[in-house]
Formats: sequence, C-alpha cells, structure tokens
Amino acid sequence: MNTKKLSSQGPQTRAIHGGEPNRRGVNGPIVTEIIRSSTFTFSSTEEMKLWAEGKNQAYIYTRYGNPTLSVAEKKIAALEGAEAAVVTASGMAAISSSLLAALKAGDEVISTAQLYGGTYRLMRDVFPNMGITVHQVGTDLAGIEKLVTPHSKVLYVETPTNPTLRLVDIHKAVGFAKQHKLISIIDNTFATPVLQNPIALGYDMVVHSATKALAGHSDIIAGVSVGSEEWMKQVRSMIIYLGGSMDPGAAYLLIRGIKTLGVRVQRQCENAMAVAEFLEKHPKVERVHYPGLQSHADHALAKKQMRGFGSMLAFDMKGGLAAARRFCDRVSLFLLAASLGGVESLVILPIYSSHYNMNNEELRRADVSPGTVRVSIGLEDKKDLIEDLRQALQ
Ligand SMILES: Cc1ncc(COP(=O)(O)O)c(C=O)c1O
Repeated sequence: MNTKKLSSQGPQTRAIHGGEPNRRGVNGPIVTEIIRSSTFTFSSTEEMKLWAEGKNQAYIYTRYGNPTLSVAEKKIAALEGAEAAVVTASGMAAISSSLLAALKAGDEVISTAQLYGGTYRLMRDVFPNMGITVHQVGTDLAGIEKLVTPHSKVLYVETPTNPTLRLVDIHKAVGFAKQHKLISIIDNTFATPVLQNPIALGYDMVVHSATKALAGHSDIIAGVSVGSEEWMKQVRSMIIYLGGSMDPGAAYLLIRGIKTLGVRVQRQCENAMAVAEFLEKHPKVERVHYPGLQSHADHALAKKQMRGFGSMLAFDMKGGLAAARRFCDRVSLFLLAASLGGVESLVILPIYSSHYNMNNEELRRADVSPGTVRVSIGLEDKKDLIEDLRQALQ
C-alpha cells in the first residue's frame, strides 16, 4: 500500500493514489475491484486459529473488514494524515460508534450545542438511557471550564456547524481537551480534509458523513472515523458489535468520489463565495451565514484555520417561514432536498429536515430560525446558480 510513501505528497495526489495497491504490471486493473463477498476462505484450520488469536490479518467476514473497504480506509487515513480509518454504513454509524468506543455509563460528554441534528438527537434522546450525560457549550467555548467534572470523558465538536456555519476554534478546543485529559472527537464533514486536518492538531478521532463531499455524487450513504491504530481498533470493534459496516459497493463509489474531492471542493468554494456575495446584497435577505463573508462572526477564525470557506451556506429570509417556503418552492436549478456536498446545488429548510423535532429554545441555541434556508453549493456554473436565486427571490 502507498499510504506511508504518499504522506508528504499533496492532498489531491493522496486522494487519487493513497491506499491503492501497487498497480504496475501487465493487464492490471487501474481501479479497485468491488469484492462482493460476505465471507472469505481460509486455507486451513491452523490459519483460522491464528486469526482467532489475532495473529494474522486475514479477512473473515465483511462486517469485520473487506479488501475494498480497506482501500477506502487507507485512502481516507492518508488524506486526513492519520494512522488508520474505519469506513461505516453512514455518518451516524461513524459518530455513534466512535462516541461509544470512548464512553461508558457514568461518563460525561462536553459538546458544542450547535451540531448536525442527528448527532444532537443521539446525545439528547439516546445517551441519557445509557447513563451518559451531555453538557453543551457554545461554539465560542465560553465557560467550558465550568462543565468539567471528574466524570468528563469526551469533548465533541463540529466545525463549521450544520446548518448555520459557526466555527469552533480547533486549536483552542483540542488544547482544552488535552489539558483536561478528554478524548477529542471532531465532525469534519463540512470542512472536508481539503480545508482542514484536525488529526495534525492532535484530535483523537475525526468523523465524517462520507455521504457528503467525500463521496460527492449523492449516490451513497457512508461514514468514516479516522484516528490512531489504537482508537480505530476500538471503533472497528463497535462497528462489529453494532453492525454499522459499509457495503463494498458503497466503498467502490466512495473511493471513486474521493479521487476528485480536491477539484470539487475548490470549485464549490468559488461558487459558494459568489452566491454568498449575491445573497448578502439582496433586499429580501435578512442575513447570510457564510464564513467567507467579512460580515460573518467567525470570518477571522475561518481565515486562520481553514484553507477555504467551504461549499455550505445558509441565509435568513425577510418574512420568515412563509417567505423561505416561497423561495424553496420557486427555485428550479437548485433542487429542494436534504443532504449536501454533491455536484448538484440543493436548498432545504432546516426546521423541516436536520432540525425537525426541536423546540424553540433548541432552535434558538442552534441559531436556526423558521426562515433559515440552508444551501449546498454544487458544481454548476455560478452565473446560472445566481440567475436561479434571482428569479426565485423576486
Ligand atoms: C455534519 C454532519 N455530520 C453527520 C451527518 C450524518 O451523516 P449520515 O447522514 O451519512 O449518517 C450529517 C448528515 O447530514 C452531517 O451534515
């Protein structure tokens, strides 16, 4: 495998060649095969015994590991600059398994209050039943010291946040985690490894919804957890217990998608900046949430810790929910759909999607209002995107 040799190479080179087997030779395929086998043969019971004793690395059963999954894992580890990765059936499988690998009953989590709604609801609705307590802090981490107790175990952050693009200072957060001996986990979905690499800063685990920019074509549900060999052993163990393993067909599409991640993100950043600037000047728009804009509360932090401002933005319509619904019903090039990070530009109302089933106080803390529209910027020509927004806002 090429992972070690490639670590000094650029991200796009690693995205293409990282984790791939040596492809020199006659008649070799240039792409990774889908090994669509649920189980794998052994040559003897002696080999099986060695596997059971943990003395060989053989594949036994795809829930435990599979050659196609291994390529995806090594590629993403190379891209994030980590020792290892575990690919999973969804982003939520990666998030839940990584958290449960680190937590047990009686433990406490400190988490940013602004999170992808699914992660937020997991912590709100499921963790208390497991005896795990969650304390929330704002993205500015103000007052975080007061949340530390002898039971504190994990610091969980997401940055930029879904859906209103607030940033957490990733240096400050990991420094705090180290100071208090907390296991640090970060959701890097919105930034992607192209724009920010938290492992290099000392985070224990990085999680992604690989459904989004990593795969990039809105055709799979996928996730990944990234970190040290030691942590990934624990996460894989959770995946084996809980069953959130990835399908090899999805792994093939993930590998293919990642190869173009760099150029997609670069173009999406350019498009998003143009759209954000257009929306900011529009009289029907109350406020635009895009870290690339000077007006954004975390603009300076974004410039400091990200290599670009990303493909996601949100905006609040003047006229609240009714106006936001009218807008979403009128766009024609932008599609009205959940999810993000694909080649098509999408719009969605968070209160009817990621942030359903939250009360007004929870929405206020998440900075989501009924008139908030979340926008995922794709690869279309920016003039066409702006034209569609102009006609829908009219
Ligand atoms: C930031 C973030 N994290 C995690 C998830 C969950 O990922 P998945 O839908 O692949 O389970 C999402 C999904 O929207 C997300 O936006």
